[in-house]
Amino acid sequence: MALVTTKEMFAKAYAGKYAIGAFNINNMEIIQAICDAAAEEKSPVILQVSAGARKYAKHEYLLGLANAAIKDSGIDLALHLDHGADFEICKSCIDGGFSSVMIDGSKWSFEENIALTKKVVEYAHAHGCVVEGELGKLAGIEDDVKVSAADSSYTRPEEVEEFVTRTGVDSLAIAIGTSHGAYKFTADQCTRNADGVLVPPPLRFDILEEVEKRLPGFPIVLHGASSVPQEFVKKINSLGGKMPDAVGIPEEQLRKAASMAVCKINIDSDIRVAMTAAIREYFVEKPSAFDPREYLGAGREAVKNMVKHKIVDVLGSNGALEK
Ligand code: G3H
Ligand code: 13P
Ligand code: ZN
Repeated sequence: MALVTTKEMFAKAYAGKYAIGAFNINNMEIIQAICDAAAEEKSPVILQVSAGARKYAKHEYLLGLANAAIKDSGIDLALHLDHGADFEICKSCIDGGFSSVMIDGSKWSFEENIALTKKVVEYAHAHGCVVEGELGKLAGIEDDVKVSAADSSYTRPEEVEEFVTRTGVDSLAIAIGTSHGAYKFTADQCTRNADGVLVPPPLRFDILEEVEKRLPGFPIVLHGASSVPQEFVKKINSLGGKMPDAVGIPEEQLRKAASMAVCKINIDSDIRVAMTAAIREYFVEKPSAFDPREYLGAGREAVKNMVKHKIVDVLGSNGALEK
């Protein structure tokens, strides 16, 4: 078992009409939860590391934990840099043992994005690593960068072939209405259901279809794809937390995207809300608890159950390791 690139995973996912979950990792409990869930469901999985995660947990710890997870779970894993902002961080992760990197040039002009992405692709491919690029700009918060809905922009399908051909990227993240974080949409962008929960505007499947037509067989990536399950939000809010109007992407829309050209679905916020809800509940039920193994263990279990649910009911990647 080894750290692998996403090449074969994506080819199989495309053909099999499912997607691979790319889950953000920040500590040991999160890594164990994701890898145990994937191993039990016989699903391929991607562990992804943001710049913030590297700052918090340090590169060597995350790399070491990912390698430990491969040994312990007995499955191959891809280790991916999430939202690489420049060539230097991509190079550092390629040199430092990652199997995949994202160069996020979405804040630059089309030509600048191409030049930067191409430079990363050349270095990565020479070192056995694959690259994800991005076209279009998602709303929401990632690291210290906050993009307002007004400053976000959908991917323009007419640009994707030129971008992919000129850069040589292995996969492409596109903007079709998903958004980063646990507060993906403001109340004025949504309607409300009978329970008063915000109902977001539907994803732009017309853009995805057009991209798919122009890039047949090419793996597409969705960022900002947490569903922010209301069971966790309700629990957090009823146990002393404050997450008013936290809302995500409806799971059935993600399932539909996974059956199309989307081969990688990024999930971070759902890990955060699952863990937070479980730990809040633990402390309320056991106010005298002070052993981190107890409450972090409860958080780990909640993340594992959430990841299993995603694999089976949203991504459709369960059993794929046996095929
Ligand atoms: O897309 C962003 C991810 O959710 C990572 O978040 O930068 O706070 O680690 P972070
Ligand atoms: P969420 O905030 O929707 O989990 O998105 C995570 C992500 O896109 C990481 O790159
Ligand atoms: Zn993202």
